[in-house]
Amino acid sequence: MAFLRLDVSQIMCGIFGCILKSGDVAPLMRQALERLEYRGYDSVGEATVQSNKLFIKKDKGKISEVHAAVNLDDMPGSIGIAHTRWATHGAPSKVNAHPHTDCDNKVAVIHNGIIENFLELREKLEHSSHIFKSRTDSEVVPHLIEEQLRNGSDLLEAVIETVRKLKGAYAIVVLCSSYPDTIVCARKESPLVIGIGKDAVYCASDIPAFLPLTNKALLLEENEVALLTLSKVEITNSETGEVVSRAPFEVTWTRQAAEKSGYDYFMLKEIYEQPQAIRNALRTQRIYYDLVASRIDSADVVYFTGCGTAYHACLAGAYSMAKLAGLRSNVVIASEFNQVHTNLLDKKSIVVALSQSGETMDTLNAVREARARGASIVSVTNVMGSTVTRLSDVYVGQNSGPEIGVAATKTFTAQVTVLTRLAIVLSKKRGRTSSADTENLLEKLAQVPDAITSILKQQDDKVREVARKCKNLPSFCFLGRGISEVTAIEGRLKLLEIAYVPSLAYAAGESKHGFIAMVEPGYPVIFVAPNDETHSKIIGNIMEMKARGAHIISIVEEGDEQIKSISDDFIEMPRGIPGIMTPLAFVVPLQLLAYYVAVEKGHDPDHPRNLAKSVTVE
Ligand code: F6R
Repeated sequence: MAFLRLDVSQIMCGIFGCILKSGDVAPLMRQALERLEYRGYDSVGEATVQSNKLFIKKDKGKISEVHAAVNLDDMPGSIGIAHTRWATHGAPSKVNAHPHTDCDNKVAVIHNGIIENFLELREKLEHSSHIFKSRTDSEVVPHLIEEQLRNGSDLLEAVIETVRKLKGAYAIVVLCSSYPDTIVCARKESPLVIGIGKDAVYCASDIPAFLPLTNKALLLEENEVALLTLSKVEITNSETGEVVSRAPFEVTWTRQAAEKSGYDYFMLKEIYEQPQAIRNALRTQRIYYDLVASRIDSADVVYFTGCGTAYHACLAGAYSMAKLAGLRSNVVIASEFNQVHTNLLDKKSIVVALSQSGETMDTLNAVREARARGASIVSVTNVMGSTVTRLSDVYVGQNSGPEIGVAATKTFTAQVTVLTRLAIVLSKKRGRTSSADTENLLEKLAQVPDAITSILKQQDDKVREVARKCKNLPSFCFLGRGISEVTAIEGRLKLLEIAYVPSLAYAAGESKHGFIAMVEPGYPVIFVAPNDETHSKIIGNIMEMKARGAHIISIVEEGDEQIKSISDDFIEMPRGIPGIMTPLAFVVPLQLLAYYVAVEKGHDPDHPRNLAKSVTVE
């Protein structure tokens, strides 16, 4: 186990549950939450049970702020659950903070993940007179458990029956005042780990939560539910109903290693989180897409704007919308937006702003000016409650969870996913894609995470080998045609910012109008060369570079013998990814290349010099 990398699934909220033989659980829960704060930090909450009564404290803000306001340590009882939130459904607020409770305030639930069918479940529960307090997807869980308990189930049965109704991703931890010695937890797609201490048992979204308390851990697998008491941990598969036996293992990680799930740096961990980040991005309800597509469709003028990697995601999105939906739009770097473009906006204009942080000053300035001219604002962001969400008429959450590495990786692919899905929905709305083709494209998009998983499994070593070979080269050039130009410029940005290698990126066809003068024997040129409509032309571009002695590194589809045979190195991607979706997969080896070149050169990829994660100055 020592240096095994944990399966990095959904990284969003931090969750913790604990039963102590004696003593108050509350101070220990707060300390555990502080160790989980890197997972999410917009609101905090705890629940304990004593004398068959449930106690709850929760509020918006960082743990230290909420603790200063309400004293989280002052809660009775030796059993409790605690949560630090990264909002997906429902803005950060006291009422949306976890734990959520049932109507009778007996069942408290904390949740990490996204419940896709919550609207449908909520509607049914409201019909049977359940009263909801929050706008979260999570709140359906305590009400569903309440229903089961009312029907005579015990707590374990109630949780099993409940999770069988949930679609999406969840790690949930349940506390019930009628069961003062028991915690029940369950998971699907979101991680959950059990810690077994002396006279204590814990469960958490991540090992660091309990690492100072015990190093005996047990991983819950997909669809498992665990009943925790001081005397036993009983695991049941919620699908089959079978009881599972599993021995604990010893954790030999330091806390820092545990936070990175065994990866050397957060950036690598986040690159590996991309399959899950894309799945999460796809969990946003279709109604948001229909709403945004309608607004874009009726606008006279459409702009996309953002900075850095978010700007690249805009380029990819605008390309797909032009190609699939016939949308005419303009893509403008946010810091340039107000020079000319705001003067062209009016009430019939729409500005689609992309910002992972939702706080980038240049993007906010563009959005503010556009709003002042009456334009509608749609934003795609990772931070609910951020300034960009407050300035937007509609916002779509990309649901990537916190990105700690300064270089954007999983948030890029999540943003491109959101815009690709929007392009598909818009195309259907405009009658350019049939229902069957739309479903087929959505299905292909849903398959991209599996393609990325196989790239990570099969190509990581190969990319590392290329990085070792090329680490001392003074410059690189990235070339691509069509949408692959975006992949190329994003790959270049990663290499620049974390490995400090001055590099170029071009539309491959343009390279002969200037860049080619740079090429001399051994100069590394990276071709992003999927097997789409640009394939035959890019072969011509490769030959031009090859004739001048360039070292050709190509990112190609598996079995593309033609390009492989003219490349010095090649990285193979799974076949059959539709052209507009290729940036999602083809960018992955370029992220890895930048990461490995940086590491080989002795740089810290998580903290590139002079860069900040969120640029809040002009
Ligand atoms: C590059 C990178 C930056 C950001 C840019 C915008 O890896 O991280 O270029 O993409 O600063 O940030 P957000 O998306 O927060 O507006």
